[in-house]
Amino acid sequence: MKEKTGQLAPADGKLGILLPGMGAVATTLIAGVLAVRKGGAQPVGSLTQMGNIRTGKRTANNYPKIKHYVPLADLDDIEFGGWDVYEDNVYQAALKAGVLDARTLETVRPELEALVPMKAAFDRHYVKNLDGTHIKSFTTKHDLAEQVIDDIRTFKATRGCSRLVMVWCGSTEIYHEPSETHRTLAAFEEGLHANAANIAPSMIYAYAALKEGVPFVNGAPNLTVDVPALLELAAITGTPVAGKDFKTGQTLMKTIVAPGLSARALGVRGWFSTNILGNRDGLVLDDPDNFRTKEVSKLSVLEDIFHPEVNPELYGDMYHKVRINYYPPAGDNKESWDNIDIFGWLGYPMQIKINFLCRDSILAAPLVLDLALFMDLAKRAGMSGVQEWLSFYLKSPQTVDDLRPEHDIFKQLVTLHNTLRHIMGEEPVTDAAPDEYQDAAEAF
Ligand SMILES: NC(=O)c1ccc[n+]([C@@H]2O[C@H](COP(=O)([O-])OP(=O)(O)OC[C@H]3O[C@@H](n4cnc5c(N)ncnc54)[C@H](O)[C@@H]3O)[C@@H](O)[C@H]2O)c1
Repeated sequence: MKEKTGQLAPADGKLGILLPGMGAVATTLIAGVLAVRKGGAQPVGSLTQMGNIRTGKRTANNYPKIKHYVPLADLDDIEFGGWDVYEDNVYQAALKAGVLDARTLETVRPELEALVPMKAAFDRHYVKNLDGTHIKSFTTKHDLAEQVIDDIRTFKATRGCSRLVMVWCGSTEIYHEPSETHRTLAAFEEGLHANAANIAPSMIYAYAALKEGVPFVNGAPNLTVDVPALLELAAITGTPVAGKDFKTGQTLMKTIVAPGLSARALGVRGWFSTNILGNRDGLVLDDPDNFRTKEVSKLSVLEDIFHPEVNPELYGDMYHKVRINYYPPAGDNKESWDNIDIFGWLGYPMQIKINFLCRDSILAAPLVLDLALFMDLAKRAGMSGVQEWLSFYLKSPQTVDDLRPEHDIFKQLVTLHNTLRHIMGEEPVTDAAPDEYQDAAEAF
């Protein structure tokens, strides 16, 4: 990540949030922000709107709201736009997603109906279980990227935005590994002209965004912007990027519980995780190739928290299994079960069972809002490249130089807070605070 340089530009004018994929998460975000703007609804789960941060010494007892501490775009200044392979307007798509009830949607219905997705850059090879026809025709993938760039420019001009961010809320694409095409920007651009099969649609949106200097976040576990070619482009255009995969539901619970077990040096023999969900995301993940992408993202979390290689006595034999089952009656109300086999003093076994009846998109929507607002802040602060300080929101945090990601949600929060302090020119808080203790001791 390139450090911030110089002045922090103010959040003047409108911020456009562009969403490739206007399904459950995106429509829940949009309807939610509009409902909050109208008054009465609360943006619960959003750190930028409801979270606090400590500034100065503990003795100062100063805990402002984050949105009052750093200059963020105001919710009233946000414009939404996006793309989808289905032509439903946002009201229709939100009804079909079945996350928010009709009463909530009715309060913002005209605004939602006015939001119609642009035609998608799509390739069914990457998401077999979708059959939408609201898609762009093209000669080469380069031409397709140019069309997305045109969309971005037109949106910015017609909505009168001064700044934009893009957050991928599209379906999870099939698993694929980085290849030669992804190694350098030159090879990638050659691949665009030659219609290289390993350039996924999400990469086309990311390329278009980065070309335009628009910060890009990947909310799915796809490869997308996690390849050298696109990081090279981000460096050239001085643009922040972040990914991958919103941290909601079961993985959120894992990154809350596992650091606690590790902190107390309790052993783990096995962690079995299973889920049922019945939304369109679940349908896409019903395909084994798409599930593989998600599985990789979900599996890495425990390894990185427990470090079995440095602590083989406690975690060396841990068996970790993750299952996702498509079960339509569950809709967006994903239910997860975790069975955790732990052991304590002298190796005596114990079990923890977690049954989380969550609402996937209710947990995801505030993350999209925060990521969009913080990425805009990063850009205004002159930061570019991988924004690892936003790992807090992500299941499979993108890092530079293959650095091991930090999954512990509490450490991630400290990093996030300290980055905000850094942006505001304050010292980081370490909580070691020997001076404060010494001062207090000497005062007796
Ligand atoms: N809901 C969550 O809590 C959660 C958590 C982590 C990650 N995610 C990821 O976020 C993404 C969105 O989740 P969701 O529940 O909204 O899924 P969804 O299926 O409701 O919405 C995804 C939308 O993307 C569209 N789409 C697919 N490919 C596209 C393309 N190339 N261009 C434009 N649109 C495209 C689909 O038509 C669909 O409407 C998924 O990848 C999911 O895995 C969701």
